[in-house]
Amino acid sequence: MGEAVTSRRLPPDFLIGCATAAHQVEGGIDNDWSAFERQVPSPIAAGGRTTRAIDHHSRYREDLAQLAAAAQNAHRFSIEWARVEPSPGVFDRAALDHYGDVVRVCRDVGLEPVVTLQHFTLPRWLAERGGIRAPDAPALFARYAALCADVIGAQVRWWVTINEPAVLAVQGYLDGQWPPAQQSLTQMFQAFGGLLRMHAAGALAVHRTATQRGGEALVSVAHHERRQRPLRDSNLLDRAAAAFPDFLFNRWFLRSCLSGRMLPPVGLGERVAGLDGSLDYLGVNYYTEDVISFDPALPGMLFAHRDNDPALPHSSFEWAINPAGLRRALLALWHETRLPLLITENGVADEHDELRAAYVVDHLNAVLDAVDAGADVRGYLHWTAWDNFEWAEGYTKKFGFWSVDRETMARHPKPSSALYEEICRSGVVPARAPDWLTASTIERAGAR
Ligand code: FCB
Repeated sequence: MGEAVTSRRLPPDFLIGCATAAHQVEGGIDNDWSAFERQVPSPIAAGGRTTRAIDHHSRYREDLAQLAAAAQNAHRFSIEWARVEPSPGVFDRAALDHYGDVVRVCRDVGLEPVVTLQHFTLPRWLAERGGIRAPDAPALFARYAALCADVIGAQVRWWVTINEPAVLAVQGYLDGQWPPAQQSLTQMFQAFGGLLRMHAAGALAVHRTATQRGGEALVSVAHHERRQRPLRDSNLLDRAAAAFPDFLFNRWFLRSCLSGRMLPPVGLGERVAGLDGSLDYLGVNYYTEDVISFDPALPGMLFAHRDNDPALPHSSFEWAINPAGLRRALLALWHETRLPLLITENGVADEHDELRAAYVVDHLNAVLDAVDAGADVRGYLHWTAWDNFEWAEGYTKKFGFWSVDRETMARHPKPSSALYEEICRSGVVPARAPDWLTASTIERAGAR
């Protein structure tokens, strides 16, 4: 597919906006991550903590109004399980009402809510008894999901049970970078299995309860598509080293959902209650693709050395900027699932807002390429609105259209936000970002 030469229109009724997650923006949450952040020495870049995060919990009305004023028509956010169920079986009515109000405000200002039930974090009491590997985690998640659907099920159409199950399993249980900071292949497989069962039980609960409340729930996971490509295509060892991580990370969960079974290598193909029919659409998070080379020194990683494609420009997270990968991802997922696709995250870490305008334009053009080639793409939710807490990176990675003054918490629009607003308002994607926004962009980043 060649580079677009003229501007192009987004499909009718296209959802366009931003995505956030409770722990990264709200502040004041007591969960497994806030406990992790308090460790000494800090496992978080520059010792970042979410004590205040960006204070979205008290500023959500103004924040949502700001997104609507910027012509966005959809918004993805997550409900914090630890707030709703601070101790096992004890539910906090005020916390539920808060999220009820978030949904109401979204509707009032014209933002279609896309609601995530679990975005990486867990209540501490659940983490302490095994977290996503605990045998009763699926039942507990279903109970919490049903309660959420009971309160907001009539007003919410788009649901995400679990954000990026594969990322959580790898980061928490293989790489050990996130809580519970384990480095064990066995535990990683158990984490994958636990998340699959949680998704199945949660999807069933949301479908049932929302229907009882007169809602029409569309349920998915937010799947992180990050292809693991061999560094050297002609090298058999690189190809072999890439094949398994690529399958496990990008396909195992989805194919298990589509077949209704816990597929090998995590299961033996046994049926999982609720899994069949648990995807009404597919949430797609896309940032980049990785390249894999065979490394005999890494048996614990199954000999796969993962890197960013050296041939491409990079973001300030070092992730390769690869819009063609988004077109490939959407088409592959469309052919694999035949489900409507909703881009639930896509964005760039960009210290000085030099990359973002071109990134957004190029990635939206990649979306339109996929649409032209037949994929059913319903929307695009950019990661993210406001610079926020980026997990182990703390506040050092800046993904937002607005910067946030960490003293006053004031939000300041970055230049790229004007371009996004124009796209949201007009429904038209330019062929290229205007020069004044890209003056020093991709080439300069690529030269690093
Ligand atoms: C994704 C996460 C999201 C955010 C972006 C940069 O993997 O879902 O919370 O941190 O990466």
